[in-house]
Amino acid sequence: MSKFNVLFKVTGSIAAYKSAYIISRLVQSGCNVKVVASESALKFIGTATLEGLSGNPVYTDSFAPAQVMSHIHLAQWADVTIVAPATANTINKFTNGISDSLLTSLFLAHDWSKPYLIAPAMNSKMYSHPATQLSLSKLKSWGVTILPTEVGYLACGDVGEGKMLNPDLIFDEVMKAYASKNKSVTKKIILITYGGTAEDIDGVRFISNMSTGKTGAAIAEELFLGGNEITTLRARNSFETKFNVESKVFSSFEDYRVKIEKLLAEKHFDVIIHLAALSDYSPAFLEKDNNTFPLPLQSKLASDSDNIKIMFKKNVKVINSLKRLSKNPNVIVIGFKLTNQVEESDIPNIIKKMFADSDIDYAVHNDLSSRTFSDEQTNFTVYDKVLNTTKCVSVLDLAKEIDKIMEIKNDIVH
Ligand SMILES: Cc1cc2nc3c(=O)[nH]c(=O)nc-3n(C[C@H](O)[C@H](O)[C@H](O)COP(=O)(O)O)c2cc1C
Repeated sequence: MSKFNVLFKVTGSIAAYKSAYIISRLVQSGCNVKVVASESALKFIGTATLEGLSGNPVYTDSFAPAQVMSHIHLAQWADVTIVAPATANTINKFTNGISDSLLTSLFLAHDWSKPYLIAPAMNSKMYSHPATQLSLSKLKSWGVTILPTEVGYLACGDVGEGKMLNPDLIFDEVMKAYASKNKSVTKKIILITYGGTAEDIDGVRFISNMSTGKTGAAIAEELFLGGNEITTLRARNSFETKFNVESKVFSSFEDYRVKIEKLLAEKHFDVIIHLAALSDYSPAFLEKDNNTFPLPLQSKLASDSDNIKIMFKKNVKVINSLKRLSKNPNVIVIGFKLTNQVEESDIPNIIKKMFADSDIDYAVHNDLSSRTFSDEQTNFTVYDKVLNTTKCVSVLDLAKEIDKIMEIKNDIVH
């Protein structure tokens, strides 16, 4: 994932322990995280936890040796800033321009071209107090994203508004904030299909392929962070994206066919990135002891015969009809071709045939030999219709190339 910098501010609420979980998710998603904690926050959560999870020292004191310019440098460093939990005290200080700590000074030094989010957490009375409500609306008018609170059980024993938003939703909001910062006029609506089909034999056995969906999920994440609107149609058991994107799941080829037809008829997509590894053949009949049974079987196949035979029927090539089925007839279609054990010199002809057979605009070739031990596909070659090529060493590189393709197509359309 593209790395970006999150300045994570923690203030003195009982919800401070939840910040540990959000910081951990951000780090696991590839973000660089630096934590600024108020003095009160450190009464609720220890520096060891915050430092251990973020992998960086925790900043609290404006006058700490060797850190005296942190109130400027950290603001410059951050791509996204979030205060979670944000106390009534800090929120009210922010609106009054008070800068009596590193945490509040950083607010005044914030560069407003970059997102600033606040996740309030407090007792209902503190939350509904006119001072707090006035501050929140003032902050909103200054460009701060105020996350909603939840109604629920509060530490004081009350049940009401003021509970900090669910940590997973806060994580999603940070990602969205970064993505919308990158949003340009050329933002695209993209469908990414990935993962392998599973063809049912008898309810417990199936025929599938080795696609894990890792490449598709990684491309989806990069394009999401680039500010695009992403929908995924992914195989059951395939990798999910780390972010909250619209996602549909398929199992068999037939299931995929029905779902993609519905999606393309209902929603306008600018780009379809078709990585789904679809079975060319689906099991149709099983022959056993001179009897023929239609597949899938209703119950588990017994192992009492020496030989069984499975007959497969050929499936249609969905990639040929994506444009025809699309609400947007000008949709850009990018198809993928995985090869295994083919001569390097044969690849252009394989790609040529792919262009001749299917209605695609670009083809991405990759070979099984370029898969790492951790199932990461590397070394992709992007072909246009006249077989000009661009080499990409990683998924990150490939996502950048797809971005470029979308820009070029956008220029042609406008
Ligand atoms: C046990 C305990 C829980 C608290 N929880 C909250 C809270 O959830 N929200 C809040 O705004 N203040 C809460 N406070 C009060 C703040 O800690 C206090 O206003 C403090 O000065 C905030 O400092 P800070 O904003 O610099 O972190 C709590 C105080 C205590 C002792």
